[in-house]
Amino acid sequence: MNSEKITETFLKYFEKHKHKIVPSDSLIPEMDTTLLLTSAGMVQFKQALLGKQKPIAPRVANIQRCFRTGDIDEIGDRSHLTFFFMMGSWSFGDYFKEGAVDLAYDLIINGYKFNKDKIWATVFKGNKQVPKDIETKKAWLKYLPKERIVELGEKDNFWIVGNTGPCGPSTEVYYDRGKKFGCKKKSCKPGCDCDRFLEFWNAGVFIQYNKTEDGKLEDLPMKSVDTGAGLERFAALLQNKDSVFDVDIMIPITNKIKSLSKKQSKIEIRVIADHIRGAVFLIADGVRPSNLERGYILRRILRRIIRNAQLLEMKENYMEELVKTVIKTYEGTYYKGFNQKEILNTIEEEKQKFEKTLNKGLKKFKDFNFKKTISGKDAFFLYQSFGFPIEITKDLAKENKLKVDEKGFEKEFKKHQETSRAGVEKKFGGAGSFGEKVAAQHTATHLLHQALKEVLGNEVKQAGSDLTPERIRFDFTFDRKLTDEEKKEVEDIVNKKIKEALPVKLETISLKEAKMNAIGLFEDKYADKVQVVSVGKYSKEICAGPHVKNTKELKHFKIKKEKSSAAGIRRIKAVLD
Ligand code: ALA
Repeated sequence: MNSEKITETFLKYFEKHKHKIVPSDSLIPEMDTTLLLTSAGMVQFKQALLGKQKPIAPRVANIQRCFRTGDIDEIGDRSHLTFFFMMGSWSFGDYFKEGAVDLAYDLIINGYKFNKDKIWATVFKGNKQVPKDIETKKAWLKYLPKERIVELGEKDNFWIVGNTGPCGPSTEVYYDRGKKFGCKKKSCKPGCDCDRFLEFWNAGVFIQYNKTEDGKLEDLPMKSVDTGAGLERFAALLQNKDSVFDVDIMIPITNKIKSLSKKQSKIEIRVIADHIRGAVFLIADGVRPSNLERGYILRRILRRIIRNAQLLEMKENYMEELVKTVIKTYEGTYYKGFNQKEILNTIEEEKQKFEKTLNKGLKKFKDFNFKKTISGKDAFFLYQSFGFPIEITKDLAKENKLKVDEKGFEKEFKKHQETSRAGVEKKFGGAGSFGEKVAAQHTATHLLHQALKEVLGNEVKQAGSDLTPERIRFDFTFDRKLTDEEKKEVEDIVNKKIKEALPVKLETISLKEAKMNAIGLFEDKYADKVQVVSVGKYSKEICAGPHVKNTKELKHFKIKKEKSSAAGIRRIKAVLD
């Protein structure tokens, strides 16, 4: 069964069972500031699951593009991907455990025609806070012999996205691929580390709790179901393929990599195939390479592609060929309206940047002549001087049978962030007229950011800013020139907010709290406390800079220039007069 048919079967089945089909959300979770990227279908429904927002329908299903940074070290094996498509279904306070199991079994056996003798299920075995899931076990007993229902602990069968929020015990469906995939141990069953039992559907997270920051589980007002199945894994089973890299929607990419490479090494091919898909979709959704947050995730995977391409001795034009192949494979069915030129420009720019330092860094790495372990300081030096993300240092370490002190690296990273933050405060904190001017510009920047979102759409993101006493410079993600009308509208909004004399409030709160409540650029990921700046009710952002007390101090705002700054990034120069 090809992938298109797999997703079609999924959606049709749930539609028949009264589920509303909704589109995929962006990889940038607009509604959820606790997450950098959309890592599961349920992310866009978190508020509904918490009972804080009315769900769009009692039953919903979709195909969601997902990115899981946490799996980056696993790429190369048969079943992991950082970027993948998740087929998901939800019941918001509608059917619960038995209903979910009935639907899952029916679809697996009658819809997809899986061999029922190979199907296993797992249920939560219980812990101090949550009892064993007897109800789900009972539901499975209608279909499976009790030997094929395995009770597992928290790691496998209690699901939550991130650390807080809606969560609950889960039930997962496994396929027995046969002894030839296995470890041959007698105890081998779902939950074992080997490749024999492949988990292919989280057929129900039974969401009935909200996990708070102190680790408590609060009962939610309603009980919901959240399911998710990785399309590529599903396809590997239904197409009888060895790995997720061999299925119909991956083969064009892996074949392309092979045809462009002098050396044919499986792991590198898989890493490139996984990362290039992720990179194309991240850029399509508005992420741009940077040293911060989601921009840094994109940068890491792009740089790892570049280094792996070098190892495979790929042809000069490989990036362009790969990007085109990815777009051709997914345009239409999985994404509508890729901006190929924009994506190519963004990636080529990053490639040129990194290629300047990659070989120097590799030479330096050799000169270091490391013994046993690469210290956190040295790993950070490679990052800071040559732009080596930790994955490349880890790859190099592996090739040279070395270890990396990753914790030490994180520590250095954090130290560096704190130092640059102190620098920012020094730069903006001065007294006198310069200080006052910059404070006013800082507040104006927040108004400008919000006004751009209002006029151009919520996908506009700040990409950088720089203030001098003479002017404000503000960079943001957007892929075309602004019209004169748009510029005027933005200007008018900012000036209206200045006239409204809105109070500016500064609050210092914990980072966690901030992520939960405010929109923001989480540059200070490693600081415990952050400053949240609210301008009336109009804007709320995290920002370490100084601000005026009231917008009326800004007097008048004027846009002087608007131009391209980098691929997909526009730059506005503006003044307060
Ligand atoms: N949200 C659940 C998962 O991602 C279904 O596994």
